[in-house]
Amino acid sequence: MKHSKVIEVLKSDKLLQPVVVKGWVRSFRNDRFIAINDGSTIHTIQCVLEDDTFDKALTDRITVGAAVTVSGTLVESKGSGQRVEIQANSITIEGDADPEELKLTILSPKKHSLEKLRQQAHLRVRTNTFGAIMRVRSKLSFAIHEYFQKNNFYYVNTPVITGSDAEGAGEAFKVTNFELNKVPTTQEGGIDYSKDFFGRETNLTVSGQLEAETYAMGLGQVYTFGPTFRAENSNTSRHLAEFWMVEPEVAFCDLDGNMDLAEDFIKYVLQYILDNCQDDLEFLEKRLVQEDKSKPQAEREEMLLRDKLKFVLEHNFKRVSYTEAIDILKNSKPNKKKKFKYPINEWGADLQSEHERFLVEKHFKCPVILFDYPAKIKAFYMRLNEDGNTVRAMDILFPGIGEIVGGSQREERLDVLKEKMAALNIPEEELWWYLDTRKFGTCVHSGFGLGFERLVLFVTGMSNIRDVIPYPRTPLNAEF
Ligand code: 4AD
Ligand code: MG
Repeated sequence: MKHSKVIEVLKSDKLLQPVVVKGWVRSFRNDRFIAINDGSTIHTIQCVLEDDTFDKALTDRITVGAAVTVSGTLVESKGSGQRVEIQANSITIEGDADPEELKLTILSPKKHSLEKLRQQAHLRVRTNTFGAIMRVRSKLSFAIHEYFQKNNFYYVNTPVITGSDAEGAGEAFKVTNFELNKVPTTQEGGIDYSKDFFGRETNLTVSGQLEAETYAMGLGQVYTFGPTFRAENSNTSRHLAEFWMVEPEVAFCDLDGNMDLAEDFIKYVLQYILDNCQDDLEFLEKRLVQEDKSKPQAEREEMLLRDKLKFVLEHNFKRVSYTEAIDILKNSKPNKKKKFKYPINEWGADLQSEHERFLVEKHFKCPVILFDYPAKIKAFYMRLNEDGNTVRAMDILFPGIGEIVGGSQREERLDVLKEKMAALNIPEEELWWYLDTRKFGTCVHSGFGLGFERLVLFVTGMSNIRDVIPYPRTPLNAEF
């Protein structure tokens, strides 16, 4: 008989019928009650062993962490806490879990710190917290695809290995096939990349944007959703060296259209999670309430997790120009009292996360879209405004997260784009293909990148980005 997923069994109304489940033992009480979780839901199914039906040799092997198959009959539960349970008539141990060894791992039934769970990232998905996070993460991915597919966007897979550093921030990981102790050199003493695998210098992508732009010029509206890599040495709770980014790119769309798209998109996926991940959200919400109890009052969340998601859904994102934001920051209490690590003195300053969080959490108290940034602090491809100083950039800032989206209207004018590249010493030969799109049927177009893990952070209420991706890559850490 084919086995069923616990999530199906818990909803099933096929009482008194045979049922088989396979999963891992979460607990075994009084030599009678096994709680089995199979990952399909946060909940366990209770399997009840009738007295004396099973050998002690078998029941001794029903230990926390063991993999088991249970066959039996689905019955109404006599106990409280569950609607149905399985009256077991056969149990197979698929894989034992030695209690002595298990005791030393995070699977032992007691409270472990998130840091300890990170050290055993291969086991943490078997805890309630990580099961819930990873199910939500999966559903969020699906919601993202659903949103774009429903709205006539095409999914494009941009290259992971590339010759361009789209953001121009010099944070790309190099890709080479050279033996590192025998790197060929040119006559001038430089590295001879013509002898490398690709015959040129290459790196891991920092963004699929430039390639996505070329595809938007044919398919109209596209999105990428893939891994991106940044060798920035930021050891923070918001940065990963390998993270997933969602990047839509839309032809015939200006910055206002881009902001509308981003807001609509984010609200859609949040609504999807509220509708489809109720059990996991409820668990994560309670987890946060527990966690908050150990924090000083001032650091506690003002809203419950689901209320926070609903709040974002029910309010318009506040759209504020960079210039207005600088005025607000300049005159803000923390700036006047010298509480910012980076004081805001003048227009043109790059905003740090302390500023972004002040704007979102203290001043506006809702998601904020900042737009029209100084050209000097933004990438070369952003469209220059008539003032000659600012570009049609936008960043979306979220409470507790800071920047979650970065995007812009793109510079579609060939001459202006070339001037900007020249000013930043970006050789035209390197981006000849990108410039071609401005030669043949160029048009107003826009796009943005949403950091997927930052979205998962927001939705799950977790506070460290290392806890929302299965195997985080950060400076000095690439275990597993
Ligand atoms: O603002 P960024 O650098 O923008 C771009 O890469 C554009 N090319 C996107 C586009 O217009 N198509 O990155 C976009 C988002 C950020 O807002 C942030 O959410 C996330 O990617 N991000 C990171 N997330 C985790 N770890 C990091 N190191 C990140 N760097 C950026
Ligand atoms: Mg950015």
